[in-house]
Amino acid sequence: MSSAYLIDWLSLLGRWVHLITGIAWIGASFYFVWLDNHLLAPARKEAPDADANAGVGGELWAVHGGGFYHAQKYRVAPDKLPGTLHWFYWEAYATFLSGFFLMCLLYYARAEIYLIDPAVAALSKPQAIGIGLGFLVASWLVYDVLCRSPLGRNDRALGVVVAGLLAVEAWALCHLLSGRGAFIQFGAALGTIMVANVFFVIIPGQRELVRAKQESRVPDPVHGQRGKQRSVHNTYFTLPVLFTMISHHYAMTYGAGYNWLVLIGMCIAGALIRAWFVARHKAHERGGKTSPWLAALGVLTLAAVAFALTPASGTQAVSMAPPRAQSPTVAEFEQVNAILKLRCQPCHSASPTQPGFVAPPNGVVLDTPEHIFAQLLQTHQQLSTRAMPIGNLTGMTEEERSTVLAWIDHGAPR
Ligand code: HEC
Repeated sequence: MSSAYLIDWLSLLGRWVHLITGIAWIGASFYFVWLDNHLLAPARKEAPDADANAGVGGELWAVHGGGFYHAQKYRVAPDKLPGTLHWFYWEAYATFLSGFFLMCLLYYARAEIYLIDPAVAALSKPQAIGIGLGFLVASWLVYDVLCRSPLGRNDRALGVVVAGLLAVEAWALCHLLSGRGAFIQFGAALGTIMVANVFFVIIPGQRELVRAKQESRVPDPVHGQRGKQRSVHNTYFTLPVLFTMISHHYAMTYGAGYNWLVLIGMCIAGALIRAWFVARHKAHERGGKTSPWLAALGVLTLAAVAFALTPASGTQAVSMAPPRAQSPTVAEFEQVNAILKLRCQPCHSASPTQPGFVAPPNGVVLDTPEHIFAQLLQTHQQLSTRAMPIGNLTGMTEEERSTVLAWIDHGAPR
């Protein structure tokens, strides 16, 4: 069995697990944010079971899956801890472990394909991996120190500083790594902060809460406040992280000239939209009304990014029937075919010759005129965003790139 085939399977299984655990984690996290925000003051109970509700600060009724549920949240802790107490942390840890496995398998082990773009920075493999791991660790350390510093007592100021630093991180990564690598590395850093929040702050705080109860002490409220602050951050990080995880399918985003601005814009849009949903949960406090401006701003930001990335008109010319008049400088198909054969076909053919590839990536085959003409739009996009040849492993020159682009722009004369 070839190692490339094995890697394909490990990557498939790794992604599968990562998706499942990620859904379980974020699903539970969304649910608890929703639950917390929908709690109502408990209905006044006349005796006889009034005692049972002592210490309950909020409650909620829900119907789901054919049954009624009644959840109650205690202001601090119930008088007596129940025999069975459910915790939520393996979802987060498993998401981190499977994600880190995938980062190592795909982006670090094959850094020359996915992480390094010589046109951005001529890094060696160890340098690129070092940058990746360094950003993962440093992002968490800096963020954690900020949250624990005096700044951490002012949620708004902390939010502004964290957002500013993350924007700088997005800029830096996009100037060090390939666009695709920078986006996923940024998402991985945010995701690491989220899991570390669970591991180092939220869960230890909850353990302290339980211990204090068992020892009949009054728990230090700082643990609860800290946990709450980190959960709020996690909620706003979620949509940006999920965008980066699917971004590698969209070369128009990570391959754009100002890809760091695209990354920042998409993250702002995601955070705003999430903020609107959170605000919406609490609509009962405002007579059922939620101002639409957060969502509107989020959608406007998305629209602005989409508009800014609109391809130049040349690309559309391809899909329109009559090819433009052929200018004498435009390459013939034969010349283009020779370039694609040299620079693309090692990967994009039925049986790739490039080491590490067992099947044409994404099913894209560029080996016959029919296949090439069927992929003109995609080829133009991949070349103009510099997403292909991936990692420029086949050493395509600038001249070859512009030759093929000009040929497509002129209606791809045969
Ligand atoms: C070293 C291998 C390699 C070479 C060489 C290469 N590609 Fe790719 N190509 C890939 C991989 C890997 C993907 C899948 C990327 C992903 O994970 O979405 C891909 C995907 C594509 C896609 C599909 C993109 C999508 O979003 O579905 C197109 C189109 C493409 N390549 C065009 C080209 C062209 C044109 C060239 C030559 C200029 C080229 N590729 C050279 C590896 C390569």
